[in-house]
Amino acid sequence: MEAHNLFKEAGSFATIADMLLDRLNRPIRDLRISVTDRCNFRCGYCMPKDKYGRDHQFLKRKELLTFEEIEKIARVFVELGVVKIRLTGGEPLVRNDLETLIRRLKQIDGLEDLSLTTNASLLSSERAAALREAGIQRINISLDALDARTFGQLNGVGYPVEDVLSGVENASRAGFEQIKVNMVVQRGKNEASILPMLEYFIGKDVVLRFIEYMDVGNSNAWHSKDVFTSRQIKSLIESRYPIEALDANYRGEVARRWKLSGLPMEFGIISSVSEPFCGECSRARLSAIGEVYTCLFADSGFDLRSLLRAPEAEPSLFQSIQQLWQVREDRYSELRSIQGSARQKVEMSYIGG
Ligand code: GTP
Ligand code: 5AD
Ligand code: SF4
Ligand code: SF4
Repeated sequence: MEAHNLFKEAGSFATIADMLLDRLNRPIRDLRISVTDRCNFRCGYCMPKDKYGRDHQFLKRKELLTFEEIEKIARVFVELGVVKIRLTGGEPLVRNDLETLIRRLKQIDGLEDLSLTTNASLLSSERAAALREAGIQRINISLDALDARTFGQLNGVGYPVEDVLSGVENASRAGFEQIKVNMVVQRGKNEASILPMLEYFIGKDVVLRFIEYMDVGNSNAWHSKDVFTSRQIKSLIESRYPIEALDANYRGEVARRWKLSGLPMEFGIISSVSEPFCGECSRARLSAIGEVYTCLFADSGFDLRSLLRAPEAEPSLFQSIQQLWQVREDRYSELRSIQGSARQKVEMSYIGG
């Protein structure tokens, strides 16, 4: 990392020397908190039905971190440099009384951005307004197709697409600072939905992002041939519309930004398979039971809950997270082509993407 970039990123730190960096010189900026491992959908790329059936053992309620514990951990992360927190799941809106947690997190000094990723199935207009009022600034909604048949198949439970589209409208009316729609593209399954999705969202003040299908976890039977690459997504769009590149919003943004020329439509492409972005990765992830993962593709996390529940234990929460980040050298996506994707990895539904 170049020195001038470090200065720009130093933010609230007095000097660069105070800034927490990992072994590859990446600061910690972003914390993704999973509040539950449960979800009412069964997307094949995340919680395939055959692996997440009726007998699947989800985490038990008493195992989950309480809101107080999540807040305590989040405060330490913010002290160490985190400025963005995103709530995820599973599906975060199935966790009872999520707004109470949001209100607690909102009060943390130094936190600049509080956001949520959801499938929008529970996003009624009342719920959207309550989330906004509690303090959610930006919301990302997952939606993989516009036609009922394809969407019903992809979500694994035949969930109606109109309900998710209503969720997007409810979010628009609730006045979030930004709404993004995430579409995971799987070759042979939904590439035909790319242009209809783009056309549907023109002028709707939503940023649509196309995500390459990733080999997260070990459940989804991923194969590289199932990836519809960012290059192919871009060519498909360019065959119909002229497009223009936009600058990144912030350093380490996962999506490359584009717009349709002359039309009110921004879109992004997330190329984590074909063009990995590990060099800029400043994200840590907290599971619903309090393990910290320093990579989306890690096999195990570091247990903070035990530390939290045994306050006399040494080293402290602060020191433990600090040390964990200092020794971090994860860059799975960059190594995928060398190492292959067969090894044991945590499931996406467990750490929320
Ligand atoms: P903002 O840019 O803050 O709006 O959020 P985001 O794009 O990081 O969040 P979102 O939950 O919408 O993530 C979109 C997708 O990007 C995720 O589902 C992943 O597919 C991918 N992604 C996000 N972070 C990472 C990461 O650290 N590594 C990899 N490989 N993919 C990521
Ligand atoms: N590959 C790419 N994206 C995925 N998501 C979940 N599983 C995968 C996968 N295997 C996406 C969801 C959601 C975001 C949090 O992660 O669609 O938008
Ligand atoms: Fe649920 Fe999201 Fe996973 Fe789909 S991708 S099963 S909506 S957590
Ligand atoms: Fe970060 Fe790991 Fe994703 Fe690379 S693969 S961008 S290190 S989470």
